[in-house]
Amino acid sequence: MTSQHILSLDYSFAVGSGSKAIDDAQLIKHESSFQNALTNTLRRVQSGELGFWNLPDDESLLASISELKKALPKEIRHLLVLGIGGSSLGGKSLCHALSGSLEIPADAKQNTPRVYFVDNSDPWYLQQLLERIEASKTLVVPISKSGGTVETMSQLLIVEQWLASTLGKQTAKKHLVLITDPKDGKLREKAQEEGIQTLAVPSNVGGRFSVLSAVGLFPAAMSGINIAEVQAGAREMKKACAATSLKENPAGLLAILNYLHHQMHGRHVHVLMPYADALRPYAGWFVQLWAESLGKRLDLSGKEVHVGPTQLPAIGATDQHAQLQLFSEGPDDKFYSFIEVLNAQKDLKIPESSGDLAYLAKHSLQAVLRAECLATRTALHRQGRPSLCIKLSAVNERSLGALFFLHEAATALAGELYRINAFDQPGVEASKQLTSGLLGRPGYEAYGKGLSLDAHSPSQTHLLECPLVRN
Ligand code: PA5
Repeated sequence: MTSQHILSLDYSFAVGSGSKAIDDAQLIKHESSFQNALTNTLRRVQSGELGFWNLPDDESLLASISELKKALPKEIRHLLVLGIGGSSLGGKSLCHALSGSLEIPADAKQNTPRVYFVDNSDPWYLQQLLERIEASKTLVVPISKSGGTVETMSQLLIVEQWLASTLGKQTAKKHLVLITDPKDGKLREKAQEEGIQTLAVPSNVGGRFSVLSAVGLFPAAMSGINIAEVQAGAREMKKACAATSLKENPAGLLAILNYLHHQMHGRHVHVLMPYADALRPYAGWFVQLWAESLGKRLDLSGKEVHVGPTQLPAIGATDQHAQLQLFSEGPDDKFYSFIEVLNAQKDLKIPESSGDLAYLAKHSLQAVLRAECLATRTALHRQGRPSLCIKLSAVNERSLGALFFLHEAATALAGELYRINAFDQPGVEASKQLTSGLLGRPGYEAYGKGLSLDAHSPSQTHLLECPLVRN
């Protein structure tokens, strides 16, 4: 890899020979399936159906984010992002990777707000947060494409009241930025009625494909990340993902290798294992992208198929001491994607020591991590377990932009290979309807019938209340 390559794909351990391998001849045989998948995807992009593909070229997005930032109250020290699924995971991955861990105290010298992602209706986190931060220094960013998601809307009502109780209703509105559909939904209506500032999620960009829209880029810009560079990395990857030859198209290779190892050899579990703490939330983003896009009941012709690889996130080297035993000796039902980072932003040298540990002094911590990554890949390879490795020159704005786009494009292509629609999520609806029914939302009464939150509901026909375990 030369210094110019911010990302490369090593798939040497995904191709081989033997009865449970995919060989070069099979890749050549499936070149036309890949080309059909790419043609169909690009056709949907050109028709305007799939907006994610063109987000890296949207200069007006950068301009509107920068304009909005100028209009915000001064002295913002905390950014509270309210959202769930695709409206949270991308921004969280970007901010964690590029503006410093979300789990350790913010750098007080940095003049950017600390970002908090509230992505659950569990009161545990939000309640602690609201007790510890000051409303006057907080900007709240509810993100919901539909503008009706119950988790996000309940958080918004609570946080609005919290803001208003200190700042008063009018000033509280200045501490809100709503990110939602440009025209539709309750959040858009609210913004219009109450004069709250907004950014738009383009109508043709679905939640889990929205990280390169305002959904991911606004929180990133607020936390000091150079979002023009993120876009530039994505733009470079977009060019690579349009290549019509399989061996030149990284998204095509990711999609086809996953697909063939699943369909031909029953490897229905896909493990994404970044060797990078910076990419811990990224693994969660990818799980959602791949799972919600590819797990489907019906194929494009309406036939019942129940397809989709199962996602399993792992972190190197941590999970070498948790999941690697299963990976190497358990069932051969997995395909592995590793992510390796060649250069640490700030490395730590291991100091000289004597005795058994002296050999470590030649290395840095990043070198140890890279050795572990290669060792794990090789050990799995020797057991006949296939994998590929995405190599990033470093974790930075450009490489992250490229990585996000790569995985989005691969997901679209994989959807075509599985012959399903990767851009809907009908399987999530049933639970949403039942939740609305249980919570008494008008129009959803029928869904709640026969369900009760009562611990002693008669519908619980098999309940063991541990007799000796009491408060
Ligand atoms: O990827 C998706 O479409 C989902 O994960 C959504 O992002 C999630 O359900 C949140 O939806 P909304 O943004 O409408 O609140």
